[in-house]
Amino acid sequence: MNRRLYGTLPDGRPVHEYTLDNGRGLTLRAIEYGGIITELNVPDAKGQGANVILGFATLDDYVARNDPYFGALVGRYANRIANGRFTLDGEPYLLAQNDGPNSLHGGPRGFSRRLWTVDAANDTELRLSLVSEDGDEHFPGRLEVKVRYALTAEQAFVIDYEARADAPTPINLTHHNYFNLRGSGSALDHELTLACSRFLTTGPGLIPNGIAAVPGTPFDFRGPQRIGARICEGDAQLLAAHGYDHCFILDAADAQRPMPCATLRDPASGRTMDVLTTEPAVQFYSGNFLDGSLRGSGGQAYRQGDGVCLETQHYPDSPNHPEYPSTVLRPGETYKSTTVHRFRTT
Ligand code: BGC
Repeated sequence: MNRRLYGTLPDGRPVHEYTLDNGRGLTLRAIEYGGIITELNVPDAKGQGANVILGFATLDDYVARNDPYFGALVGRYANRIANGRFTLDGEPYLLAQNDGPNSLHGGPRGFSRRLWTVDAANDTELRLSLVSEDGDEHFPGRLEVKVRYALTAEQAFVIDYEARADAPTPINLTHHNYFNLRGSGSALDHELTLACSRFLTTGPGLIPNGIAAVPGTPFDFRGPQRIGARICEGDAQLLAAHGYDHCFILDAADAQRPMPCATLRDPASGRTMDVLTTEPAVQFYSGNFLDGSLRGSGGQAYRQGDGVCLETQHYPDSPNHPEYPSTVLRPGETYKSTTVHRFRTT
Protein backbone atom coordinates (compact mmCIF):
# COMPACT_ATOMS: atom_id res chain seq x y z
CA MET A 1 0.00 0.00 0.00
CA ASN A 2 1.25 3.36 -1.03
CA ARG A 3 0.09 6.61 0.61
CA ARG A 4 1.08 10.11 -0.37
CA LEU A 5 -0.07 13.66 0.19
CA TYR A 6 -2.37 14.45 -2.74
CA GLY A 7 -3.24 18.06 -1.96
CA THR A 8 -4.64 20.47 0.60
CA LEU A 9 -8.23 21.63 0.92
CA PRO A 10 -8.99 25.38 0.95
CA ASP A 11 -9.42 25.11 4.76
CA GLY A 12 -5.95 23.61 5.15
CA ARG A 13 -6.87 19.97 5.72
CA PRO A 14 -4.51 17.56 3.96
CA VAL A 15 -5.87 14.97 1.53
CA HIS A 16 -4.00 11.73 0.95
CA GLU A 17 -4.04 9.41 -2.01
CA TYR A 18 -3.83 5.62 -1.57
CA THR A 19 -2.70 3.19 -4.24
CA LEU A 20 -3.98 -0.39 -4.30
CA ASP A 21 -2.35 -3.02 -6.51
CA ASN A 22 -3.45 -6.63 -6.95
CA GLY A 23 -0.08 -7.63 -8.43
CA ARG A 24 -1.78 -8.70 -11.67
CA GLY A 25 -1.96 -5.35 -13.41
CA LEU A 26 -5.06 -4.00 -11.69
CA THR A 27 -4.29 -0.83 -9.72
CA LEU A 28 -6.53 1.78 -8.15
CA ARG A 29 -5.82 5.20 -6.69
CA ALA A 30 -8.31 6.87 -4.36
CA ILE A 31 -8.29 10.01 -2.23
CA GLU A 32 -9.93 10.83 1.10
CA TYR A 33 -11.88 13.73 -0.45
CA GLY A 34 -15.19 12.33 -1.69
CA GLY A 35 -13.68 8.83 -1.61
CA ILE A 36 -12.86 9.76 -5.19
CA ILE A 37 -11.17 7.16 -7.36
CA THR A 38 -8.64 9.15 -9.32
CA GLU A 39 -7.33 6.27 -11.42
CA LEU A 40 -8.22 2.66 -12.20
CA ASN A 41 -5.70 0.88 -14.36
CA VAL A 42 -6.79 -2.27 -16.16
CA PRO A 43 -4.71 -4.47 -18.50
CA ASP A 44 -5.81 -5.40 -22.01
CA ALA A 45 -5.23 -8.83 -23.62
CA LYS A 46 -1.53 -8.04 -24.15
CA GLY A 47 -1.14 -6.88 -20.55
CA GLN A 48 -1.06 -3.24 -21.61
CA GLY A 49 -2.67 -1.09 -18.90
CA ALA A 50 -4.89 1.94 -19.33
CA ASN A 51 -6.69 4.21 -16.90
CA VAL A 52 -10.33 3.37 -17.55
CA ILE A 53 -12.03 6.17 -15.61
CA LEU A 54 -12.40 9.90 -16.20
CA GLY A 55 -10.96 12.27 -13.64
CA PHE A 56 -9.04 15.47 -12.99
CA ALA A 57 -5.32 16.04 -12.50
CA THR A 58 -5.50 17.95 -9.20
CA LEU A 59 -7.39 18.20 -5.93
CA ASP A 60 -8.24 21.83 -6.74
CA ASP A 61 -10.11 20.65 -9.82
CA TYR A 62 -12.04 18.04 -7.80
CA VAL A 63 -12.98 20.69 -5.22
CA ALA A 64 -13.91 23.45 -7.66
CA ARG A 65 -15.18 21.68 -10.76
CA ASN A 66 -16.52 18.24 -9.97
CA ASP A 67 -20.11 18.91 -11.03
CA PRO A 68 -20.03 15.63 -13.01
CA TYR A 69 -19.14 13.73 -9.78
CA PHE A 70 -16.10 12.09 -11.43
CA GLY A 71 -15.08 8.97 -9.49
CA ALA A 72 -16.96 9.96 -6.33
CA LEU A 73 -18.90 8.22 -3.61
CA VAL A 74 -22.45 9.53 -3.70
CA GLY A 75 -24.89 9.88 -0.79
CA ARG A 76 -26.87 10.25 1.42
CA TYR A 77 -29.32 9.77 -1.45
CA ALA A 78 -27.89 9.16 -4.93
CA ASN A 79 -29.95 10.45 -7.86
CA ARG A 80 -32.96 12.73 -7.55
CA ILE A 81 -35.62 13.41 -4.94
CA ALA A 82 -38.39 15.49 -6.51
CA ASN A 83 -38.51 19.04 -5.17
CA GLY A 84 -36.22 17.87 -2.35
CA ARG A 85 -39.36 16.86 -0.49
CA PHE A 86 -40.60 13.67 1.10
CA THR A 87 -42.65 12.50 4.06
CA LEU A 88 -41.35 9.81 6.41
CA ASP A 89 -43.49 8.37 9.22
CA GLY A 90 -45.83 11.33 8.75
CA GLU A 91 -43.06 13.94 9.09
CA PRO A 92 -42.45 16.25 6.10
CA TYR A 93 -38.83 16.98 5.13
CA LEU A 94 -37.35 19.59 2.79
CA LEU A 95 -33.82 18.75 1.67
CA ALA A 96 -31.11 21.05 0.36
CA GLN A 97 -31.95 21.56 -3.33
CA ASN A 98 -29.19 21.67 -5.94
CA ASP A 99 -30.68 20.58 -9.28
CA GLY A 100 -33.37 23.12 -10.04
CA PRO A 101 -35.96 22.43 -7.36
CA ASN A 102 -34.75 18.85 -6.90
CA SER A 103 -32.19 17.30 -4.60
CA LEU A 104 -29.46 15.49 -6.57
CA HIS A 105 -26.80 13.14 -5.18
CA GLY A 106 -27.37 14.14 -1.53
CA GLY A 107 -27.43 17.91 -2.06
CA PRO A 108 -24.76 20.58 -2.60
CA ARG A 109 -22.59 19.17 0.22
CA GLY A 110 -23.24 15.51 -0.41
CA PHE A 111 -20.83 12.73 0.51
CA SER A 112 -18.84 13.32 -2.72
CA ARG A 113 -17.63 16.63 -1.24
CA ARG A 114 -16.64 15.40 2.22
CA LEU A 115 -13.33 14.42 3.65
CA TRP A 116 -13.65 10.72 4.47
CA THR A 117 -11.60 8.99 7.17
CA VAL A 118 -9.35 6.09 6.24
CA ASP A 119 -9.86 3.37 8.86
CA ALA A 120 -7.55 0.79 7.31
CA ALA A 121 -5.53 0.24 4.18
CA ASN A 122 -3.29 -2.42 2.69
CA ASP A 123 -2.11 -3.39 -0.80
CA THR A 124 -5.53 -4.51 -2.00
CA GLU A 125 -8.03 -2.86 0.32
CA LEU A 126 -9.05 0.60 1.51
CA ARG A 127 -11.64 1.17 4.23
CA LEU A 128 -13.27 4.60 4.43
CA SER A 129 -15.83 5.99 6.84
CA LEU A 130 -17.93 9.10 7.23
CA VAL A 131 -20.32 10.39 9.87
CA SER A 132 -23.26 12.32 8.45
CA GLU A 133 -24.78 14.23 11.36
CA ASP A 134 -28.50 14.54 12.08
CA GLY A 135 -29.84 17.28 9.77
CA ASP A 136 -26.99 16.94 7.27
CA GLU A 137 -28.37 18.48 4.04
CA HIS A 138 -31.64 18.33 6.04
CA PHE A 139 -31.75 14.52 6.15
CA PRO A 140 -33.05 13.05 9.41
CA GLY A 141 -30.84 11.13 11.81
CA ARG A 142 -27.14 10.62 12.38
CA LEU A 143 -25.74 8.17 9.84
CA GLU A 144 -22.48 6.25 10.08
CA VAL A 145 -21.23 5.06 6.71
CA LYS A 146 -18.46 2.62 5.93
CA VAL A 147 -17.17 1.86 2.44
CA ARG A 148 -14.59 -0.69 1.41
CA TYR A 149 -12.72 -0.68 -1.92
CA ALA A 150 -11.00 -3.99 -2.67
CA LEU A 151 -9.06 -5.48 -5.57
CA THR A 152 -9.19 -9.25 -5.89
CA ALA A 153 -6.83 -11.76 -7.49
CA GLU A 154 -9.65 -12.52 -9.96
CA GLN A 155 -9.30 -9.03 -11.51
CA ALA A 156 -12.30 -7.56 -9.71
CA PHE A 157 -12.76 -4.19 -8.09
CA VAL A 158 -15.35 -4.57 -5.33
CA ILE A 159 -17.20 -1.84 -3.41
CA ASP A 160 -18.96 -2.75 -0.15
CA TYR A 161 -21.16 -0.20 1.59
CA GLU A 162 -22.52 -0.38 5.12
CA ALA A 163 -24.48 2.16 7.16
CA ARG A 164 -26.38 2.55 10.41
CA ALA A 165 -28.67 5.36 11.51
CA ASP A 166 -30.07 6.52 14.87
CA ALA A 167 -33.36 7.67 13.29
CA PRO A 168 -35.27 6.56 10.18
CA THR A 169 -33.75 8.03 7.03
CA PRO A 170 -33.81 7.40 3.30
CA ILE A 171 -30.47 6.16 2.01
CA ASN A 172 -29.20 5.34 -1.47
CA LEU A 173 -25.44 5.03 -1.87
CA THR A 174 -23.63 4.61 -5.15
CA HIS A 175 -20.39 5.25 -6.96
CA HIS A 176 -19.98 7.68 -9.83
CA ASN A 177 -17.10 6.37 -11.96
CA TYR A 178 -17.20 7.34 -15.63
CA PHE A 179 -15.80 4.36 -17.55
CA ASN A 180 -13.88 4.47 -20.79
CA LEU A 181 -12.35 1.04 -21.25
CA ARG A 182 -10.04 2.21 -24.04
CA GLY A 183 -8.61 4.92 -21.80
CA SER A 184 -9.31 7.81 -24.18
CA GLY A 185 -11.62 8.96 -26.96
CA SER A 186 -15.34 8.25 -26.95
CA ALA A 187 -17.04 5.51 -24.98
CA LEU A 188 -20.05 5.63 -27.30
CA ASP A 189 -18.55 2.83 -29.40
CA HIS A 190 -18.37 0.54 -26.37
CA GLU A 191 -20.89 -2.30 -26.35
CA LEU A 192 -23.24 -2.45 -23.43
CA THR A 193 -25.40 -5.28 -22.14
CA LEU A 194 -27.93 -4.67 -19.35
CA ALA A 195 -29.78 -7.51 -17.60
CA CYS A 196 -32.85 -5.30 -17.57
CA SER A 197 -36.20 -5.59 -19.39
CA ARG A 198 -37.69 -2.43 -17.88
CA PHE A 199 -36.59 1.12 -17.17
CA LEU A 200 -38.03 4.16 -15.48
CA THR A 201 -39.24 6.85 -17.85
CA THR A 202 -38.63 10.42 -16.75
CA GLY A 203 -40.51 13.70 -16.93
CA PRO A 204 -39.41 17.28 -16.19
CA GLY A 205 -36.12 17.50 -14.27
CA LEU A 206 -35.46 13.80 -15.04
CA ILE A 207 -37.82 12.75 -12.25
CA PRO A 208 -39.25 9.24 -12.82
CA ASN A 209 -42.84 9.18 -14.00
CA GLY A 210 -43.47 5.61 -15.08
CA ILE A 211 -42.07 2.20 -15.93
CA ALA A 212 -41.63 1.10 -19.56
CA ALA A 213 -40.65 -2.18 -21.20
CA VAL A 214 -37.47 -2.05 -23.32
CA PRO A 215 -38.38 -4.32 -26.31
CA GLY A 216 -38.60 -2.34 -29.53
CA THR A 217 -36.99 0.77 -28.00
CA PRO A 218 -33.44 2.20 -27.99
CA PHE A 219 -33.41 1.14 -24.33
CA ASP A 220 -33.15 -2.54 -25.20
CA PHE A 221 -29.63 -3.59 -24.12
CA ARG A 222 -30.59 -7.17 -23.25
CA GLY A 223 -28.02 -8.25 -25.87
CA PRO A 224 -24.79 -6.33 -26.55
CA GLN A 225 -25.45 -3.02 -28.32
CA ARG A 226 -23.11 -0.23 -29.31
CA ILE A 227 -24.05 2.63 -26.98
CA GLY A 228 -23.95 5.21 -29.77
CA ALA A 229 -25.96 3.15 -32.25
CA ARG A 230 -29.38 4.47 -31.25
CA ILE A 231 -28.51 7.45 -29.04
CA CYS A 232 -29.48 9.98 -31.73
CA GLU A 233 -32.86 8.43 -32.49
CA GLY A 234 -35.75 10.84 -32.08
CA ASP A 235 -37.02 8.98 -29.03
CA ALA A 236 -38.72 11.39 -26.62
CA GLN A 237 -36.97 9.88 -23.58
CA LEU A 238 -33.52 10.20 -25.20
CA LEU A 239 -34.23 13.72 -26.42
CA ALA A 240 -35.29 14.95 -22.99
CA ALA A 241 -32.20 13.51 -21.27
CA HIS A 242 -29.73 14.41 -24.11
CA GLY A 243 -28.93 10.70 -24.30
CA TYR A 244 -29.19 7.89 -21.78
CA ASP A 245 -29.75 9.03 -18.19
CA HIS A 246 -32.21 6.43 -16.97
CA CYS A 247 -32.71 3.96 -14.19
CA PHE A 248 -32.87 0.37 -15.48
CA ILE A 249 -34.52 -2.28 -13.31
CA LEU A 250 -32.62 -5.56 -12.89
CA ASP A 251 -34.61 -8.58 -14.05
CA ALA A 252 -33.15 -10.64 -11.22
CA ALA A 253 -32.11 -8.77 -8.09
CA ASP A 254 -30.96 -10.29 -4.82
CA ALA A 255 -30.07 -8.10 -1.83
CA GLN A 256 -27.91 -10.92 -0.39
CA ARG A 257 -25.89 -11.89 -3.46
CA PRO A 258 -24.41 -9.73 -6.26
CA MET A 259 -26.39 -10.48 -9.42
CA PRO A 260 -25.41 -9.84 -13.07
CA CYS A 261 -26.28 -6.25 -13.93
CA ALA A 262 -24.22 -5.01 -16.88
CA THR A 263 -21.37 -5.83 -19.23
CA LEU A 264 -19.39 -3.05 -20.88
CA ARG A 265 -16.92 -3.95 -23.65
CA ASP A 266 -14.50 -1.91 -25.67
CA PRO A 267 -14.08 -3.72 -29.00
CA ALA A 268 -10.80 -1.88 -29.73
CA SER A 269 -8.86 -3.00 -26.64
CA GLY A 270 -10.96 -6.05 -25.75
CA ARG A 271 -11.25 -4.77 -22.17
CA THR A 272 -14.55 -5.99 -20.77
CA MET A 273 -16.16 -5.20 -17.44
CA ASP A 274 -18.94 -7.23 -15.84
CA VAL A 275 -20.92 -5.41 -13.17
CA LEU A 276 -22.70 -7.45 -10.49
CA THR A 277 -24.70 -5.89 -7.68
CA THR A 278 -27.00 -6.46 -4.75
CA GLU A 279 -28.93 -3.30 -5.77
CA PRO A 280 -32.25 -3.60 -7.62
CA ALA A 281 -31.39 -1.06 -10.35
CA VAL A 282 -28.68 0.75 -12.28
CA GLN A 283 -28.61 4.33 -13.55
CA PHE A 284 -27.06 4.22 -17.01
CA TYR A 285 -25.77 7.71 -17.74
CA SER A 286 -23.96 8.29 -21.05
CA GLY A 287 -22.04 11.38 -19.90
CA ASN A 288 -24.51 13.68 -21.65
CA PHE A 289 -23.61 16.85 -19.82
CA LEU A 290 -19.87 16.70 -20.60
CA ASP A 291 -19.52 19.63 -22.99
CA GLY A 292 -15.78 19.98 -23.56
CA SER A 293 -15.34 22.60 -20.84
CA LEU A 294 -13.51 20.28 -18.41
CA ARG A 295 -9.93 19.15 -18.87
CA GLY A 296 -9.16 15.66 -17.66
CA SER A 297 -6.19 14.05 -15.94
CA GLY A 298 -4.47 13.46 -19.27
CA GLY A 299 -4.99 17.09 -20.39
CA GLN A 300 -7.79 16.17 -22.79
CA ALA A 301 -11.18 17.96 -22.92
CA TYR A 302 -14.08 15.70 -21.97
CA ARG A 303 -16.99 15.70 -24.37
CA GLN A 304 -20.39 14.02 -24.40
CA GLY A 305 -20.01 10.25 -24.22
CA ASP A 306 -16.29 10.20 -23.37
CA GLY A 307 -17.18 8.17 -20.29
CA VAL A 308 -20.29 6.29 -19.19
CA CYS A 309 -21.64 5.66 -15.69
CA LEU A 310 -23.28 2.49 -14.44
CA GLU A 311 -24.48 3.62 -11.02
CA THR A 312 -25.92 0.68 -9.10
CA GLN A 313 -28.63 1.91 -6.77
CA HIS A 314 -32.27 1.93 -5.71
CA TYR A 315 -34.78 3.80 -7.84
CA PRO A 316 -34.60 7.59 -7.94
CA ASP A 317 -37.20 9.47 -5.89
CA SER A 318 -38.15 6.31 -3.96
CA PRO A 319 -39.10 8.30 -0.82
CA ASN A 320 -42.07 9.61 -2.85
CA HIS A 321 -43.02 6.24 -4.35
CA PRO A 322 -44.34 3.70 -1.83
CA GLU A 323 -44.66 1.25 -4.73
CA TYR A 324 -40.84 1.22 -5.28
CA PRO A 325 -38.49 -0.94 -3.17
CA SER A 326 -38.02 0.92 0.11
CA THR A 327 -34.91 3.02 0.74
CA VAL A 328 -35.71 3.67 4.40
CA LEU A 329 -33.07 2.64 6.94
CA ARG A 330 -34.30 2.35 10.53
CA PRO A 331 -32.38 2.32 13.81
CA GLY A 332 -31.14 -1.17 14.64
CA GLU A 333 -30.94 -2.15 10.96
CA THR A 334 -27.76 -2.29 8.90
CA TYR A 335 -27.75 -1.01 5.34
CA LYS A 336 -25.56 -3.22 3.16
CA SER A 337 -24.77 -3.05 -0.51
CA THR A 338 -22.12 -4.58 -2.76
CA THR A 339 -21.10 -3.91 -6.34
CA VAL A 340 -18.47 -5.96 -8.17
CA HIS A 341 -16.62 -4.78 -11.30
CA ARG A 342 -14.95 -7.81 -12.85
CA PHE A 343 -12.45 -7.16 -15.63
CA ARG A 344 -11.54 -9.57 -18.40
CA THR A 345 -10.51 -9.40 -22.04
CA THR A 346 -12.47 -10.66 -25.03
C1 BGC B 1 -27.27 11.80 -13.23
C2 BGC B 1 -27.13 12.88 -14.29
C3 BGC B 1 -26.23 13.95 -13.76
C4 BGC B 1 -24.91 13.32 -13.41
C5 BGC B 1 -23.90 14.27 -12.86
C6 BGC B 1 -25.92 11.27 -12.94
O1 BGC B 1 -26.01 10.32 -11.94
O2 BGC B 1 -28.12 10.79 -13.64
O3 BGC B 1 -28.39 13.43 -14.61
O4 BGC B 1 -26.04 14.97 -14.69
O5 BGC B 1 -25.10 12.30 -12.48
O6 BGC B 1 -24.44 15.07 -11.90
